[in-house]
Amino acid sequence: MSLADEIKERLDIVEVVSSYVPSLRRSGRNFSAPCPFHNERTPSFYVFPDRQSWRCFGACATGGDVLSFVMRADKLDFGEALRLLAQRAGVALPEARREDPKRNILYRINDAACAFFQDTLRSQQGIAARAYLQGRGIDADVIRRFQLGLSPGSGDALIEHLTALGFTKEQVIEAGLATRGEELPSRDMFLSRVMIPIHDSQGNLCGFGGRSLDGAEPKYLNSPRTPVFDKGRILYLFHKAKAAIRREGEGVVVEGYMDAIAAHVHGFENVVASMGTSLTQQQVDLLKGLAKQFVMALDADAAGQQATFRSLRDSWLALSGKSDVKLRVLVLPFGKDPDELIRSSPEAWRIAISEAVPVLDHLFTLAPKVWDLTTGTGKNQAWQEMQPIVYEQGNVFDQDTYLRKVANLLDTTVERLQAISGVPNPRGQIRRSVSSAKPGTGTELQAKDPAQVASEHLLSCLLRWPQLKVLAAGHDPEVFTAWEHRSIFTYWLQCSTIKELTDALQGELRPLVEHLLSLSLPPMDMRQKEQAVKDCFHVLEVQRLRGIKQEESLLLAQGAGEGETPGALEEISLQAIATNERLSQLFRERPGHQKRGV
Ligand code: UTP
Ligand code: MN
Repeated sequence: MSLADEIKERLDIVEVVSSYVPSLRRSGRNFSAPCPFHNERTPSFYVFPDRQSWRCFGACATGGDVLSFVMRADKLDFGEALRLLAQRAGVALPEARREDPKRNILYRINDAACAFFQDTLRSQQGIAARAYLQGRGIDADVIRRFQLGLSPGSGDALIEHLTALGFTKEQVIEAGLATRGEELPSRDMFLSRVMIPIHDSQGNLCGFGGRSLDGAEPKYLNSPRTPVFDKGRILYLFHKAKAAIRREGEGVVVEGYMDAIAAHVHGFENVVASMGTSLTQQQVDLLKGLAKQFVMALDADAAGQQATFRSLRDSWLALSGKSDVKLRVLVLPFGKDPDELIRSSPEAWRIAISEAVPVLDHLFTLAPKVWDLTTGTGKNQAWQEMQPIVYEQGNVFDQDTYLRKVANLLDTTVERLQAISGVPNPRGQIRRSVSSAKPGTGTELQAKDPAQVASEHLLSCLLRWPQLKVLAAGHDPEVFTAWEHRSIFTYWLQCSTIKELTDALQGELRPLVEHLLSLSLPPMDMRQKEQAVKDCFHVLEVQRLRGIKQEESLLLAQGAGEGETPGALEEISLQAIATNERLSQLFRERPGHQKRGV
């Protein structure tokens, strides 16, 4: 999640706007007041809690989200508004996140808890757990090396222990080691589980994975998200594996904690565990700097599933998309995981790693197992999912190679594939032609809504081909719903070089500009580029009008509120008619569809 999203999630727009506009009154489901941005007697300024948006239906005729409201109200630029709201939301800014005494306390609590779990495992209580570990080839020496422990089953032994050491119950809860009792009292988070401490890239103990011993679900309970523990930013054993990955020039990613432990125990120290999900951009950023070659080990059970295809594709996009990092895939024999393979034969593991296949070859073998490529529907689905693979290739010659491969696989021609890729289709949706990876979002890579894709695609085109900026004339910056995009767009219209733009933007948006410039676009001639820009504006314009229409209907449905003149409502209903008109007009002008109306 980006900083802006995190802030928006935590703040309520009604609360924020009220602090600027004391006259804001409830009006049905929504709130209204005379507009703070222009002089008026009858209220035409509305706040919509459901959409977390605001709009002035009067002279300003503008609207937006909580950030754009504060920017306007306090005359701030986005960086300043972000800082102000971050403070209000209690969200730490990236630069403040480093030396936070609060974080240090959480590390210290985790350390104390870890020692406690280790003691418990060594004690009388730990007999069964020690036998279990022994059975998995984990002896006392390994237990010590990986600081494994056991959480007692009694319910609040850890809370007791930590509060006796001087930590407050609140701190224990914040560290994710106790439940927050709303009605019931707080309890230990982990009960009767083998405790695996998890460290961040710097070696700070940031959280735990707890494996159940008695078949209790879930099999692994992980620390909840805390200020120091975010699964998407962590790779298990990364701090121990760093040196070996660098030394060997190759890193291996397995899925499970136990797999990584077994590997290290048998001398394969370049192994990390992904915690059971596809790689996130942040995890990849940790790995990328260390080596140029990586291998992902997959369980065979998952082969043939669409989710596995996507997960691998996205891991690949994040890891090797535009760089010269090579990713290979090792599919283990059915029913085996690395843990078992390594323990039964380290040599077999070594061979399996050396025989891992390049990820794209693997994806091409996987596709026919995932989709029925004998049918048009199956081919279509496969192409949708494979497009990013082709267009994220670093250079056009590689793109051509893979385009031919896909064409071959789908038994069609390169021209036909190109004809249906990368530009908005007539229903106003954009096919994914660009990676949805965005730096610093902490989320896994996933498809975005069409307006967001159009918005990125459009900015990417405009930034790259400034001569197309003339096509922006007459378009309201409000078509960009994301304030980040809107800001970049507005500034870009006033700048003539990228350098000028990044100088004008505060630090926060520079990475986004770089990201937009790095998106790969399908090859296009000048006419296609112009068309792409027009198409994107069209998609965004429709989306914007739909949003306004939704707000207008909300108001009209609820009728006149207290203290409002029926006149205001009448005004809005006239505007609603105009909005409808503009929408129908847009549909009539739909690119390539001049004839048909709506
Ligand atoms: P596996 O179920 O393959 O784990 O999940 P494993 O390591 O082989 O488990 P053992 O050998 O039965 O002990 C792979 C990883 O997915 C995450 C964990 O990180 C686990 O190591 N996972 C799995 C969870 O977080 N929760 C779960 O309930 C299951
Ligand atoms: Mn296992």
